[in-house]
Amino acid sequence: MAEPGKTKFQIDLRRHLRETGVNDNLTHLICEIAEASKYIINSIRTGDLGVAGTSNLYGEQQLALDVLADRILRKRLDHSQVVANMMSEEMDEIIPISPDCDGKYSVAFDPLDGSSLVDVNLAVGTIISIFEGCDLLLPGRHQAAAMYILYGPRTTLVYSVGDGVHEFGMNNLMEYTLLRESITIESKGNLYSPGGQRNLYTPGVEAFVSNLEERGVKLRYSGGFVPDINQVLLKGNGIFFYPHLQNQPNGKLRLLFELNPMAFLIEQAGGAASNGYQRILDLQAEQIHDRAPVFIGCKEDVALAEEFIRTLDNAQPQPEAKKTRKRASAS
Ligand code: AHG
Ligand code: MN
Ligand code: MN
Repeated sequence: MAEPGKTKFQIDLRRHLRETGVNDNLTHLICEIAEASKYIINSIRTGDLGVAGTSNLYGEQQLALDVLADRILRKRLDHSQVVANMMSEEMDEIIPISPDCDGKYSVAFDPLDGSSLVDVNLAVGTIISIFEGCDLLLPGRHQAAAMYILYGPRTTLVYSVGDGVHEFGMNNLMEYTLLRESITIESKGNLYSPGGQRNLYTPGVEAFVSNLEERGVKLRYSGGFVPDINQVLLKGNGIFFYPHLQNQPNGKLRLLFELNPMAFLIEQAGGAASNGYQRILDLQAEQIHDRAPVFIGCKEDVALAEEFIRTLDNAQPQPEAKKTRKRASAS
């Protein structure tokens, strides 16, 4: 935590982790991910817009940015000495790194969320979920830490180890320094960020949206999960949802790579995250690419969504019978 008398911009990520009492291995892991993000931001800024399979000026094969971001993170985690298992939105299976779980961590990540927004120059991000030991399929409440990096006009990093949520900004030396500590969100918001096609909303979700609109709540949706969640967190109010749709009962977003870490962060800030019936952090993943509907943000707004859904929609989302794998290229 910030020492009295010290200006907060002097506190870098490593020092903040140490002063928060985070152990050496977890500190090292979070700092390694922060290091990897510097290469990812560089690729986003300077790389070809990269559709996998195309070639650059020199005739070399180009990688799609999400594939490149995936490789950058995998390599860093692989060499970190503190990771037991890892899995990524871009992979089909868990990748074992060390059979020794003691003192090690396992990491699930979405290396580049919103990759289809890069070519229109909108904000994108990296999302990370960290468990102690070897198990990556535990309910999200068991996460040891969660974080995201937002590549917007500025690059920021938000993390929690279960002791509040803290925001860091990348400075001109590419170091992350503390911007805001112990971020909190209000219990009721005045903005909403709605994913999915509205004509496919169920009666419960449609009634919820109408209720928000009647209340004069403002629409603020970028199409990128990281900037949309960051907005709720840093404005301190609002709700993001990507609901169950009539043709997609489990919505779009992935439990392990996207929802668990964001639910951990939003809960740490005093908010809530639900699939419409249950707390996201209590959901048990059956398979690594499980999806779930999500309503996340101010507690009272999430509770209101649950109420409409319980009253007007009949069935809880069930685990998908057969998972379809997302292609590794930009979505
Ligand atoms: P990804 O790029 O990792 O596949 O995820 C994109 C996500 C998320 O950023 C956003 O909230 C959502 O997809 C948008 O979904 P639509 O494509 O339905 O707009
Ligand atoms: Mn994603
Ligand atoms: Mn992605």
